[in-house]
Amino acid sequence: MKKDKIVFNILRFDPDNDKKPHFQEFQIPHIRKDLTVLEGLYYIQQRLDNSLAFRSSCRAAVCGSCAMHINGKYRLACNTLVSKLESNTVTIRPLSHMTILKDLIVDVKPFWEKYEHIKPYLIPGKSLPVTGEQVQSPDERGEIDMLIDCILCACCHSSCPVTASHEKYLGPMAFLNMNRFLSDTRDNAKEERLAIVNDEYGVWRCHTIYNCQEVCPKDLNPSGSIANLKMEIVKNIV
Ligand code: FES
Repeated sequence: MKKDKIVFNILRFDPDNDKKPHFQEFQIPHIRKDLTVLEGLYYIQQRLDNSLAFRSSCRAAVCGSCAMHINGKYRLACNTLVSKLESNTVTIRPLSHMTILKDLIVDVKPFWEKYEHIKPYLIPGKSLPVTGEQVQSPDERGEIDMLIDCILCACCHSSCPVTASHEKYLGPMAFLNMNRFLSDTRDNAKEERLAIVNDEYGVWRCHTIYNCQEVCPKDLNPSGSIANLKMEIVKNIV
């Protein structure tokens, strides 16, 4: 391998032609010091192999679509600098616990179903007006400051071994977002929400491994959300 080249070692899978996934190596030049993994993938797709499949959209760590497993960790390809990886080889796999559709693209339907399951919208209940402005004080808004930053990239979902153990387990993304709505003063469905995460596949299955927290590209705290949900269940239901 030439030192002036970066090696991309990418897990490839084409369901029409491959029986199982395999790694393929590509070498690309050091185009710039601040080259991101996503730009490297685009270089490969545009100049070396236009059949390479991956997802991306915003290229600014906002949409969450470019999450993948890069050099041993789930990250966003668009804000991961190749120069920070401490290796001249970039090894990439798709997200885990979901079926590979092609190369780095997985079927995210089960992930979105978990999101839908937690009712990701405000439920005003009977004591709050259904229409019109519902004012929050700066302190009340502060309660959800970090929680609303989740970009639904599925890094936490893929890094969680409990999620791998059962397809119905809701997982860290669903719990963090449930905590987001539970903490919002414009929502008034505490009982209904806690019942959703208090079942067989809810928060009590979490083994507090903290993988979710470690990989979150937005530095959010799904483990803290799970702890809060458990506390709320004990206070309100048990
Ligand atoms: S492309 Fe949108 S988060 Fe990376």
